[in-house]
Formats: sequence, C-alpha cells, structure tokens
Amino acid sequence: MNTSSSSSFSSAPPRVLSRIAVLATGGTIAGSAHDATRTAGYQAGVVGVAQLLAAVPALSTLANIHAEQVASIDSKDMSLALWTTLVQRVNALLATDAVDGIVITHGTDTLEETAYLLHLTVQSTKPVVLTAAMRPSTALSADGPLNLLNAVSVAANRAAHGQGVLVAFNNRIHSARDVVKTSTFAVDAFHSPEVGALGWVQDERVEFLRGVLRPHTVSTGLTIEPVAADGWPMVEIVASYAGATRLQVDALVQAGVRGIVVAGTGNGSMHVSLQQALADALARGVAVVRASRVGSGHVMHNGAAPDDALGFVTANSLNPYKARVLLMLALAAGHAGPAELQRAFDLF
Ligand code: SIN
Repeated sequence: MNTSSSSSFSSAPPRVLSRIAVLATGGTIAGSAHDATRTAGYQAGVVGVAQLLAAVPALSTLANIHAEQVASIDSKDMSLALWTTLVQRVNALLATDAVDGIVITHGTDTLEETAYLLHLTVQSTKPVVLTAAMRPSTALSADGPLNLLNAVSVAANRAAHGQGVLVAFNNRIHSARDVVKTSTFAVDAFHSPEVGALGWVQDERVEFLRGVLRPHTVSTGLTIEPVAADGWPMVEIVASYAGATRLQVDALVQAGVRGIVVAGTGNGSMHVSLQQALADALARGVAVVRASRVGSGHVMHNGAAPDDALGFVTANSLNPYKARVLLMLALAAGHAGPAELQRAFDLF
C-alpha cells in the first residue's frame, strides 16, 4: 500500500516513506460486534488486516505498508507455537533491507507477555511496535484506528531505533519490559506502573522522554532457537493467597515442570504451605522465582525469611507473567541454578 503522490506545484523533494510491515494477530482491534453500541459483547480477531488498514487511509502518507495476517485469535488463546512463529517472522523480516520497522496488532489481554518476549529475542535495532484496542473495530469511537496510525508513526520514526520493543497505545509509548494492562475496559488501559511511559505520539509527532536502560533485543544473548528445536520448557505460575495449599505445586512437579513463578503476596512472600512445597520442588531441580501479585513495585531478597536461603530467585520488577517469559527463555538457554537465574532477572 503506497499512495504517496507528488504535486507539480511543489519543489520539495518527494518524501521517502519508511517500509513498515504490519503483522496482524487478531485481538479486539480486529473485533466485530453486531451493534456499534456493543463494546463488551463482540468477537475478537475476526477482521482481516486489509480491512484494518483500509480504515486508516492516512497510513499511506506515513509509510509503505506490507501487511501479513500471522494469526486471527483472541490473545487469551496465545500459544507457545504462535510465539515461535511470530518471533521467527519478525526476525526474518527485520533481517532484510526491505523492511525498516514492524507494527504488530495484538489483543490487549496477553500483549505485555508477547511484547516482552520480543523485547528479549528480536535480533535487530529496527523498531518493533505493538498496538491494540479496547473497543472492537465496529464500535462507536473505536480506538483501534488511531492506535494503529500512532504505532506506524512510531515505527517509522528514527528515534524509535534501538529502544527495544515498544507498545504504542492511547497516545503513549511504553517499553515492552515495563508496560502492563491495568484496566479491563478503560481506553487508557496500559501503563508502566514503576517508571511511566517512555514518551508520546500524537498527530505524527513522536517524542521520547527517556531511554531504555536494561539490555534488550540484540544485546540479551537470548534467542528462541533452543526453544524452536526442543520445545518450550514447562514453566507455570501459582498464586499465594489466604489458605493456599501445596496441591498445585505437587501436581506440577509430578507433571515435569521445569520452573514455577509464584505470584506472591507483597514482596513476593507466600503461604508457608506453598513455601514448603516449593522448597521440595527446588530440591528436585525445579527453578522457583518469586514475583508479586501486587501490580507494582520490586520483589527484593527478604533476608529474614527463608526464601533466599532456600534458593528462590526474585523477579525484580517483572510481574509474574513477564517473569515466566524470562524464566522460559533463560532455562531454554541453559541457565541453571539460582545464582545464574538471579543474574538474568537482575539484568533484564
Ligand atoms: C484479546 O486480547 O484478544 C481480546 C481483548 C482485547 O484485545 O482487548
């Protein structure tokens, strides 16, 4: 899609448009309801990428768009196999000279997980920008078209190079590491609770207010190559809550789990029953990472409690879902033992 035009009255050189690949995976941005007033009852992931692009004619003045339909799913159903496909496709496209950046349309529900996976495994400094919508494409005041336009603006902007994987949503630009979905229905559904947005995008203007400090993309040394060859290591999440028992942990160990992330209380603390079960799991070679169910803040070593002595790793400021992504990649890369895994969590 390139409809750039030149005017015989203009002496300005023709603008060279960035070549942006738009990879569609489904989500509410591609959702459809039978009635424009419905913003909760709709089917996600049914509108094709050509239709999404056609709803934003202004895209043709921003970029040369190459579109691909990678999947058509509700992102609650994101699979490890589709993650593999997506990472491989993104890396293959970015390795060519024909693509300057990538925009991925995605459901909001697991966007933060996919974004962080790409942040750790994309082998390029070219921009990769995820976007989504809270209202289906058929809704009054659908938010998808403007989010898509803004995501392409960011991907086409030089300032987005080398910033890792980004999320453009509701005029803000977030780092994939920090961003989380914080509302079930609000249009302003994504925030970076600890550190705030990286910048903003509006009317084609893109401004970064800070940079990304932790290693990402080309500097992580993490890839999905071992994953693609052997399959993803089984890593699951269990939560701690009043009256938690050891039942889930024991069942997971029985099933051959390689790692468990705890969505703990407060500073990643956990019910004593869970703690004992996880200590037993660790003794059988299962990696244990303490994250928090709180929603913001770091998980620190707690010294006085036995968690550190037991060999539980702390998730730093990653939420349980992102901690699981890192733990899977680290285990696949052969990182083993609490000290080595802790280094990965402190670094990324
Ligand atoms: C999904 O995650 O695919 C559905 C929900 C959404 O995109 O907001």
